[in-house]
Amino acid sequence: PTGLLADTRGRPLRDLRISVTDRCNFRCSYCMPKEVFDKDYQYLPHASLLSFEEITRLARQFLAHGVHKIRLTGGEPLLRKNLEVLVAQLAALRTVDGTPPELTLTTNGSLLARKAKALKEAGLQRVTVSLDGLDDEVFRRMNDVDFPVHEVLAGIDAAREAGLGPIKVNMVVKRGTNEDQILPMARHFRGTGVALRFIEYMDVGATNGWRMDEVLPSSEVRRLIESEFPLRPLQPTAAGETAQRWAYADGAGEVGFISSVTHAFCGDCNRARLSTEGKLYLCLFASNGYDLRALMRGGADDAEIASAIGHIWQGRDDRYSELRGTQAADTGGARRRVEMSYIGG
Ligand code: GTP
Ligand code: 5AD
Ligand code: SF4
Ligand code: SF4
Repeated sequence: PTGLLADTRGRPLRDLRISVTDRCNFRCSYCMPKEVFDKDYQYLPHASLLSFEEITRLARQFLAHGVHKIRLTGGEPLLRKNLEVLVAQLAALRTVDGTPPELTLTTNGSLLARKAKALKEAGLQRVTVSLDGLDDEVFRRMNDVDFPVHEVLAGIDAAREAGLGPIKVNMVVKRGTNEDQILPMARHFRGTGVALRFIEYMDVGATNGWRMDEVLPSSEVRRLIESEFPLRPLQPTAAGETAQRWAYADGAGEVGFISSVTHAFCGDCNRARLSTEGKLYLCLFASNGYDLRALMRGGADDAEIASAIGHIWQGRDDRYSELRGTQAADTGGARRRVEMSYIGG
């Protein structure tokens, strides 16, 4: 592989998102609603999970194709036992430029206070923490397992002390649920070095009962923030970035808006997703993945795996968010999208 791979829309492969577990200790209604993810829900059995060695082996082939950034997700990735062992294995890999890959993790923060130091020592560079509100009552309702907000804030502090920065905080905004938390969150994280990002509630998966009227467009969120704190737009730092970045005019840092619904960013989407059981998905909204685990456990050598990844990427034409709402978005009969907890956010 040359690292110069491009899909049918000319998009390179730069970013690999690896889901390390389909389980989570939260039950956010927009992701793992309790009614579906109850005690009878069938999670993946242990044997179907990729081992750390298998993940690392696949990651090496992705890096050979030009991947520069690896993000660990889930479910809640910190629920995977000994995750720092995987982090150390991935940190030892190299990109086609000979540099270590950018290594990061998206977490709900609940176990971060306990694990931040070990993750940093293993080679994790930074973390992104999901947090949907500051008010304890609102937050407990959104995670739906009565988890207190102060423990997540302690996790963020621990990550900062461990040097896992610059830290980002993700807030999914649902109209009528936590829009009253937008300004308190902005006030809280301004001037702390943490970049707060507001995410439009997306129609991922098939269980969250998504409705357009619960999406609060980023333009409205931005107007609300600007009513208190003037903002000015920032240039993107990398092509294909998810967030549009804005700086506080008074120098108190930046905020981001991830607007998959009102402002699709498929145009230079360079992200591949590896599910917990080793399927390669080319889009967050895909219904099918390519079974790399079968290939690997069937005895394929590294060159064969790399070649398969190359061919799959070259055939890619996914751009769901751009097509959302049109018939083309739902081709292939009744569309069955995979769950985000399975594919990895
Ligand atoms: P940084 O590199 O740190 O900026 O992270 P990121 O924005 O790439 O990843 P993160 O895990 O923080 O995801 C933020 C939000 O963007 C989540 O709601 C993701 O589900 C969503 N997201 C990430 N990648 C994509 C994508 O390719 N398409 C869509 N529609 N949403 C995405
Ligand atoms: N819409 C938008 N963001 C979501 N996330 C999970 N489900 C959704 C959804 N339906 C977010 C999480 C986390 C990130 C990886 O994805 O809150 O921050
Ligand atoms: Fe868990 Fe994150 Fe999904 Fe919430 S959004 S249920 S914390 S994986
Ligand atoms: Fe990429 Fe699919 Fe998201 Fe578009 S909808 S940005 S193609 S993952």
